[in-house]
Amino acid sequence: MQALLIAFVVVSTACNHTDTMRYRDPSLPVEERVEDLLRRMTLEEKVGQMNQFVGLEHIRFNSASMTEDELYRNTASGFYPGYSLADIEQMIRDGRVGSFLHVLTMEEANHLQELSLASRLGIPCLIGIDAIHGNAKCLDNTVYPTHIGLACSFDTAMARTIARQTAREMRAMNMHWTFDPNIEVARDPRWGRVGETFGEDPLLVSLMGAETTRGLQEENVLACAKHFVGGSMSLNGTNGAPADMSERTLRQLFFPPFKANIEAGAATLMPSHNELNGTPCHSNSRLLTDILRDEWGFRGFVVSDWMDIEHIYDLHHTAADNRDAYRQAILAGVDVHMHGPEWNEAVCGLVREGAIPESRIDESVRRILAAKFRLGLFEHPYSTPAERDSVCFCPEHRATALEAARNSIVLLRNDGLLPLQKGQYRRILVTGINADDENIMGDWSEPQRPDNVWTVLRGLRERMPDVTFDFVDQGWDPCHMSPERVREAARAAQQADLNIVVAGEYMMRWRWNERTGGEDTDRSSIDLVGLQNDLIEQVLASGRPTILVLVTGRPLGVTRWAERVNALVQAWEPGQMGGLAIADILTGEVNPSAKLAVTIPRHAGQLPMYYNHMPSMYFHPYAAGESSEPLFPFGYGLSYSTFLYERMAVDTTHWRKDGTIDVSCTVTNTTGPFGVEIVQLYIRDCVCSETRPVKELRGFRRLPLATAETELVTFTLTRDDLSFLGPDMQPRFEPGDFVLMIGSSSRDRDLLKQQVTLR
Ligand code: BGC
Repeated sequence: MQALLIAFVVVSTACNHTDTMRYRDPSLPVEERVEDLLRRMTLEEKVGQMNQFVGLEHIRFNSASMTEDELYRNTASGFYPGYSLADIEQMIRDGRVGSFLHVLTMEEANHLQELSLASRLGIPCLIGIDAIHGNAKCLDNTVYPTHIGLACSFDTAMARTIARQTAREMRAMNMHWTFDPNIEVARDPRWGRVGETFGEDPLLVSLMGAETTRGLQEENVLACAKHFVGGSMSLNGTNGAPADMSERTLRQLFFPPFKANIEAGAATLMPSHNELNGTPCHSNSRLLTDILRDEWGFRGFVVSDWMDIEHIYDLHHTAADNRDAYRQAILAGVDVHMHGPEWNEAVCGLVREGAIPESRIDESVRRILAAKFRLGLFEHPYSTPAERDSVCFCPEHRATALEAARNSIVLLRNDGLLPLQKGQYRRILVTGINADDENIMGDWSEPQRPDNVWTVLRGLRERMPDVTFDFVDQGWDPCHMSPERVREAARAAQQADLNIVVAGEYMMRWRWNERTGGEDTDRSSIDLVGLQNDLIEQVLASGRPTILVLVTGRPLGVTRWAERVNALVQAWEPGQMGGLAIADILTGEVNPSAKLAVTIPRHAGQLPMYYNHMPSMYFHPYAAGESSEPLFPFGYGLSYSTFLYERMAVDTTHWRKDGTIDVSCTVTNTTGPFGVEIVQLYIRDCVCSETRPVKELRGFRRLPLATAETELVTFTLTRDDLSFLGPDMQPRFEPGDFVLMIGSSSRDRDLLKQQVTLR
């Protein structure tokens, strides 16, 4: 009888004719809709909005293939022991789940939406996904180059275009929130996630990241600035290990990209796995509230990273149990829990006993609901196959993916072999683990239809139809190469006019435990894995010209080959169209233009190594003849043209009234075909009350130049560009001498310099 009465009350509230359900009215301001909805919600429903689950298909697959023991360490796959799919569907209908991740099809996204809309208040769910370089985990979506390659193009407009296209594909798949951009400043190539980043320079990372966020959100997808902060320079280079860094380092180097992303309007943010200076980032109220919200004015919501709230308890041991960890995370500023069922009851209990004020829960729920209203999910909860099929992997997006890949490939060495002359090579050996593998797509992609992936071999065959290609397959697995296959390649090399070895790392997620690069795949060495060095050695022994192409997300210290191969091509993870792009570079169809967004050290013993180091870094160089120089410096990359830098000029030694000065020089494409030169501007403060880096990038320009064409390049500097952080951590400008440098890389000999006194 009592149950019946409760049911009657619930139904009559929902159907009350005097209650107009104002939150359903799209003509009302979002804030008003949020308040109207919030006041109707039970505590359980509110806490449910703050919870995220993995998708049903993901659960189905992993509960059949993973043991419970494997759950603890795995950061990519999960399920919920003790919960059946029917239980979970019921939780969704009960309004206990606000968002999902690891949903890979439009059909499943629509199904989850249907279940969510069947809940008492009909609140749609958010579908989040790691669409890191295109919505690459979903079949038949476009896979662009990963961020490290994109950053090497220094093309911020391209970052925005890719983000817009990615967002369109996501919405066509009924997905609304990507856990991207990763705007960590890369500092350690042992870390397997360098490929996800925009490299080592805070300015470049800030600009690329902000354009990515703008592009995504222009097309109605939520961006997620991640991971806040310090994981890209953990103590030992492994993912999630402690980071210990000064306030100055944080504010000068690691914070700027996050601040810029928030200024660009980032709707969400994800803290990092690691602890920072002794406090886990997920319970760090200084980071998540004082800095993020109070100092920078962030108005979106914070989503935890995979099981990282639980790790406050079971890994960092700064909470007594999961419940205590939930309390700490929420009070520190986390709004959404990634992921799992334990959250709901625990958090409701914490609120009921007064350990978390309900007003704090309301804050989070307001932020989440506001995002759902703004995305239009109440009005347009579904997508259709027709929409998906017309948008995803459409010709326009494919063309962008190809162009982006062409502009991301860095030519590191060329003794004159490249571009390959037409008709000169009749028989070419192609070998190496990445010669004919989908791995070219990079981390954060799932297999695509073979027809839609251009491997290097396929790209070469299509672009060089008159050549006979001998392909000696080395398998996909660098750790288990066959010595016999290596010998076979050595024999074939002797018969070939030219050898192309495509080496590197293995990044495909579906072989999680066999990977050598990507998330959770950190290494203590940056050398090639397995028999790859033997393969190169034996191919070189043929005496035939040899090109080494590297497909990898992290820089590899291929010191022993850099001087011995005729050409060295850093292709990064160029995406689905990568093989065509590589072929275009080798044949000269495209003049290479990319420059390194990250230093390539010679070996792990040199780490950390970056161009913007302090003056004392190499005061005592390494002894015993060991080099203190990188293998290739930041900003470096060759072209088939020669660009001449001349006539550097600084317009005045005094600031103009608007607080700026101009720095310029001319650049001429003296020999070679049409090309794009990436012109770089660096500064150095000669005397400063705090130590300043030997160089800091302050501007760059992609400059298209026809043969023999000259252009004047002008950069405008502001006082802020020459400022630094004083002891109070506030920016300050100290008048005095500065060296301004313009050139083709961060290396001294590639730069024109002028010292100026600025007051
Ligand atoms: C990664 C995040 C990612 C999340 C969901 C975590 O392991 O650190 O970057 O967004 O998984 O896939």
